[in-house]
Amino acid sequence: MKRSNRFDGESTNQVGAVGLKPGPISPAHDKLLFTPGPLTTSQTVKQALLRDYGSRDLQFVQMVRDIRRKLVELGQVSTTDYTAVIMQGSGTFGLEAVVASTIPRNGKLLIAVNGAYGRRIVKMTEILGVDLVVLEYPEDQPVRPSDIARLLAEDSRITHVCMVHCETTSGIVNPLQAAGEVVAAHGRVFFVDAMSSFGGMPIDLAECQIDYLVSSANKCIEGVPGFSFVLAKLSTFLKTKGWSRSLSLDLYGQYEAMEKDGQFRFTPPTSSLAAFYQALLELDAEGGVPARTQRYQSNFTVLLEGMTRLGFRTYLAQEHLGHIITTFHYPNHPHFDFDKFYRLLSEAGFLIYLGKVGQADCFRVGNIGRLFPSDINALIGAIERVLNEMGVDLLGDESASQLIDDKAVQPGL
Ligand SMILES: Cc1ncc(COP(=O)(O)O)c(C=O)c1O
Repeated sequence: MKRSNRFDGESTNQVGAVGLKPGPISPAHDKLLFTPGPLTTSQTVKQALLRDYGSRDLQFVQMVRDIRRKLVELGQVSTTDYTAVIMQGSGTFGLEAVVASTIPRNGKLLIAVNGAYGRRIVKMTEILGVDLVVLEYPEDQPVRPSDIARLLAEDSRITHVCMVHCETTSGIVNPLQAAGEVVAAHGRVFFVDAMSSFGGMPIDLAECQIDYLVSSANKCIEGVPGFSFVLAKLSTFLKTKGWSRSLSLDLYGQYEAMEKDGQFRFTPPTSSLAAFYQALLELDAEGGVPARTQRYQSNFTVLLEGMTRLGFRTYLAQEHLGHIITTFHYPNHPHFDFDKFYRLLSEAGFLIYLGKVGQADCFRVGNIGRLFPSDINALIGAIERVLNEMGVDLLGDESASQLIDDKAVQPGL
């Protein structure tokens, strides 16, 4: 099969597709997605979708094997210690598979929460009837490993600890290695939601003492939606046979089938996997995770400079900002109307992301996906034009300096 893994190093994205009408979508006119996923993908990833694959065909089975091996390598570990299990569905399905099938009936999960995705894990844990304890922080504060240590020392019934790495609600990055060290020191199992960070930030699973890491196809590896994947430490995972509370979300069952003959138990997302395989080749051609991290960091730097110049202010304090996604306060200007702001940007070909963080009115801009600093500059230019059109001058106007600052304070620790 002929594949292209060309990497240009600069944007080939079309911008400024003003006035798009609903109707058949031409790839040349795709809007740029400054979102946490689905993301803007390369033309060649999109082209990889244009194939029919038999789910039991040898070529497909081999491709799935290669994907699983490459995922383990991206985690900087070896297939003798870790495995990759692919789960149909979005990222949430992978998270729920870990909760549903890797915690024994008498187990207890400690969940560190500082955003909506942590709260979602709490919800699924409650629905599944797994015993839990929640360690909650305001959304603009990172998780503190010393708090995890305290709770583990106090409660010997806690068997597993879960933390979101990059909490996409705000973009805050929680301290992975320090948390992993604490969990391992107390002999518990460490489960990480690295949905929006894996592939866009270096993560060494062994160094961070991670037992289960979950991410999905349409995040920093820049594939299209269709599945999540779980990287599992074999010495922990192989003990979990028969523990599942669910048939379709049985992680061990899925692993066993994949190991036996390379096949999924139920219909696999063939096209999405083919696109993902192409995305992995392109990640490699770009220079792997370090090069991708650098591109996303450049996107973030250009975004922060541009938005600051326009008079916007970030929700997170400088020291907590990560490079995956950035949350900005609504400006407190009488002419600012978010719905109009969003619509005008969308009509100009740029999709930003909604986001209410706690009590603060905010919006988010993703730095990930097939986006380059030139795309970010194009977005900044469009934002400037849209603000002008709305009559919002954030720098020349006294009221602009009084931005909304009612940060979320949640009932806490
Ligand atoms: C940190 C995190 N966890 C979980 C999810 C949920 O993933 P999905 O919407 O694919 O189910 C997301 C989605 O953006 C996320 O960023």
